[in-house]
Amino acid sequence: MIKISPSILSADILKLEEEVRCLDLNGAEYIHIDIMDGHYVPNITFGPNIVKSLRKVTSKILDVHLMIKPVKQYIKEFIDSGSDIITFHPEADDNPEEIIKMISDSEIKAGIAIHPEVNIADIDHLFSKVQQIIVMTVTPGFGGQKFMHDQVQKIKDLDEIRKNNNYNYEIAVDGGVNNENAKICKDNGADVLAVGSYLLSQNQKNYNEIINSLR
Ligand code: DX5
Ligand code: ZN
Repeated sequence: MIKISPSILSADILKLEEEVRCLDLNGAEYIHIDIMDGHYVPNITFGPNIVKSLRKVTSKILDVHLMIKPVKQYIKEFIDSGSDIITFHPEADDNPEEIIKMISDSEIKAGIAIHPEVNIADIDHLFSKVQQIIVMTVTPGFGGQKFMHDQVQKIKDLDEIRKNNNYNYEIAVDGGVNNENAKICKDNGADVLAVGSYLLSQNQKNYNEIINSLR
């Protein structure tokens, strides 16, 4: 069954604890936390302190998506804060292999995210080493953007590469996911859907129904 990773980027920060508890109770498997630095992307969000606080609120998988450059110097703090998966953009640092190793050595899952302008062939040497690959279906930086259908082929290619090589990464899709494109993602091989505005703009009473319909 496809997993749902609600993105708290679209949450009301004053109600963050309540939102995360509610998403947890309504069946979300992961909580997607977008870390933006105002440099790799033109927006600033959270730091490791938010991950640390949310760790006390939920035992669901904390799926931390780093949109920061450089990456390496912040990894330890995100590990120590209680992340379960740390995903970064490999072009944002000089030595992605070393970063993957730092994460994996701490016995948490390492992931890489594919910016729409990055080709699979540029980073496929990393695929055997990671447990999650995020296909970005918007330009990273903001919630509420339109799903880029021209990125769907990457989901399909990653699924094929995984089968052909016996790799074991999960394929996540992040950006503009809604009830119209969730099935396309699933049919092409996605395992996880990061969902921000489509879910969090709704009344909490409907979360369970929306999460189930996205699946
Ligand atoms: C975009 C972020 C996404 C974002 C998704 O840079 O990585 O995780 O929160 O939000 P929606 O679903 O609104 O596109
Ligand atoms: Zn994200």
